[in-house]
Amino acid sequence: MATLKTKVLGIDFENPFILASAPPTAKIESIDKAFTLGWGGAVLKTITPDDLEMIEASQRYATWKIGNKICGFENIELLSHLTVQQWLDGIKFLKQKHPTKVQIASITAPVIKEEWQKLVCTFNNSEVDAFELNFSCPHGMPEKGIGMAIGTSAEISAMITGWVMEVAKKPVFVKLSPNVTNIADIAKAVEKAGCNGISAINTVQSLMGIDLDTFEPMPNVNGKTTFGGYSGISVKPIGLRCVAQIRQNCSLPILGIGGISNWHDAAEYMTVGADAVQVCTEVMANGYGIIAAMKQGLLNYLESKGFNSPADLKNKAIVNLSAHEKLPKSTQVYPHINDDVCVKCGKCVTICDESEHSALSLINGHIAVNKEACVGCSLCSHICPKSAIKMK
Ligand SMILES: Cc1cc2nc3c(=O)[nH]c(=O)nc-3n(C[C@H](O)[C@H](O)[C@H](O)COP(=O)(O)O)c2cc1C
Repeated sequence: MATLKTKVLGIDFENPFILASAPPTAKIESIDKAFTLGWGGAVLKTITPDDLEMIEASQRYATWKIGNKICGFENIELLSHLTVQQWLDGIKFLKQKHPTKVQIASITAPVIKEEWQKLVCTFNNSEVDAFELNFSCPHGMPEKGIGMAIGTSAEISAMITGWVMEVAKKPVFVKLSPNVTNIADIAKAVEKAGCNGISAINTVQSLMGIDLDTFEPMPNVNGKTTFGGYSGISVKPIGLRCVAQIRQNCSLPILGIGGISNWHDAAEYMTVGADAVQVCTEVMANGYGIIAAMKQGLLNYLESKGFNSPADLKNKAIVNLSAHEKLPKSTQVYPHINDDVCVKCGKCVTICDESEHSALSLINGHIAVNKEACVGCSLCSHICPKSAIKMK
């Protein structure tokens, strides 16, 4: 029998599904509900010194949808509105009621040593299990020299990590931004500065769209907007790439984040190095209840593969990532058309012709492949409206 239990930095997680720092972890009462419904832990909405001003805009969200499905989500929200004391009381209440659940205090502060160390020392004496340093919020905060303004500089990230490590009495994760040229460089810098783990990714800086009648951008704040943070299923490939790059360059435990909407996404993150995963947008779209299917799905998968726990999945795909020049290029695949499914619409013929190769033609009611011209790129299999083409 497989288990979902896992251990990260000596902390026991009853399952590897953690709520990311965001609206679903902004209120003590809601975290209480999430724990009751089965989440393994929560990263609290980022806590700041009480005197740091947080004035929100309305509206603060915009979405990109296909039908009713939210594919991409943009927010321009700031950080926690609870005071430090409210968090201390809430953390204590939650630990008493849910002793097996993991609470991670996400914190940030201006780039002043005393401010960071004061926050850390305050929460050292609380029941939180770990810290997460938010170096990565892409909106609002960078204007104050916080958030992504920290995480886009290896030097500042390392300096603050050093300040925190001088006083922290609990494990420290650093949450990284994908909005950098090379996320592995930042990971290496904070690893060298002594942090214990990495969380990645925070949101991707974005501009959701423009209303072409009014020329007002989204999310619309009385006709104006600011660049926001993009999340949800459309950022998963970016998060997965970032976690893999961090794993290739750094040996610390990783909490994988970005576009995770089901157990399958979570398992993929583990195969490229995540020890556990965090979820935000999917919970904002569909509620805490998604945890039941996530847990059951991952458990079924682990058992089907003969794995004992999520730890057995870790890094399984890393050996298959290589430089382009080292990819095995001696064999080529070709499209195979399932004639029972193909409706002979000719789309694959047109697209192949207009995208370089002209390898397909409709002959006698059948899509024929010219193997001399085909390079096995696979474009036809992706654009077929009936999924009638498989590469073999
Ligand atoms: C509305 C909203 C608010 C967020 N607030 C925070 C925050 O306070 N601190 C933080 O570290 N990340 C914050 N995030 C980022 C998430 O924790 C997470 O890193 C990101 O959304 C990617 O995960 P997802 O695709 O599962 O949403 C926020 C995200 C959203 C959508």
